[in-house]
Amino acid sequence: MGMMKLFVIMLMVVLVNGVNGKKICTKGWECQKSEYCCNQTITDFFQTYQFENLFSKRNSPVAHAAGFWDYRSFITASAEFQALGFGTTGGKLMQMKEVSAFLGHVGSATSCGYGVATGGPLAWGLCYNHEMSPSQSYCNQDYLYPCTPGAEYYGRGALLVYWNYNYGTIGEGLKADLLNHPEYLEQNATLAFRAAMWRWMNPMKKKQPSAHDVFVGNWKPTKNDTLAKRLPGFGTTMNVLYGDQTCGQGEIDPMNNIISHYQYYLDLMGVGREEAGPHEVLACADQVPFNPSSPTSATT
Ligand SMILES: *[C@@H]1O[C@H](CO)[C@@H](O)[C@H](O)[C@H]1NC(C)=O
Ligand SMILES: *[C@@H]1O[C@H](CO)[C@@H](O)[C@H](O)[C@H]1NC(C)=O
Ligand SMILES: *[C@@H]1O[C@H](CO)[C@@H](O)[C@H](O)[C@H]1NC(C)=O
Repeated sequence: MGMMKLFVIMLMVVLVNGVNGKKICTKGWECQKSEYCCNQTITDFFQTYQFENLFSKRNSPVAHAAGFWDYRSFITASAEFQALGFGTTGGKLMQMKEVSAFLGHVGSATSCGYGVATGGPLAWGLCYNHEMSPSQSYCNQDYLYPCTPGAEYYGRGALLVYWNYNYGTIGEGLKADLLNHPEYLEQNATLAFRAAMWRWMNPMKKKQPSAHDVFVGNWKPTKNDTLAKRLPGFGTTMNVLYGDQTCGQGEIDPMNNIISHYQYYLDLMGVGREEAGPHEVLACADQVPFNPSSPTSATT
């Protein structure tokens, strides 16, 4: 083999494998230690104007969290989760669908839209950053995550976090002291989005999948799941996040409200709601809930 040919082969090996194991990307972002490196990132298909379109009423004077939520905090929060597959899994269509699905949950959880609201009820996502009139302090004595005296664990954030043990679990996941300072989630939009993404990316109970895995198709239903009508897709993300509060109860409003936000965002993102798939994938009306409701299983 001639020296020149050998040199060309060595050069190709370096280009493909990168220097020191770091992939050289022709698109996406360069990073290490992630199979998602080199794929498109969220900012490649979701930009400031799209965020503004999705949450067009959030800074209106009557919005309860006016001035709090912004695109920058969403993107900053997503950085660590994009390396784990959030919004970076599959091709561009799946990536856009996942961001729409996640934001559909967020928009529905934080909406103050109602039937006659200007712009329609779906334009009012990110109106709140915490529960307005908590009926209790959501403290359940727990050995792992005991309540801090004086702290209130009512719903806060982008996917509302309730209860001391959920603040404790998510705080541990984010290395943020949410158990002692649950109020951080209504003071810092980046942290609020990180908490919601952590919740999306992680199962809250062992032996359950994450909403992310269910949505992008990493999760393979067992025979029991199939019998329980739990299919990969958006419907099962509601089952993971809300269990029997939302699923297995027929065509109830809380479920349809989350679905409507997802469809609205798919349209605004330019994906189109027809990409959401058939109703049995989109809804969870007939699914058996993963979790029977109990104080230790509910996040909301
Ligand atoms: C990266 O993107 C490609 C093409 O868009 C896709 O086929 C692949 O599954 C993605 N990688 C991962 C790990 O999802
Ligand atoms: C908000 O949270 C982010 C991410 O957790 C952190 O980096 C930032 O310092 C926080 N900002 C303030 C003002 O505490
Ligand atoms: C499937 O369901 C049956 C009956 O509810 C249960 O006994 C069994 O442990 C389940 N299997 C798995 C793998 O979850």
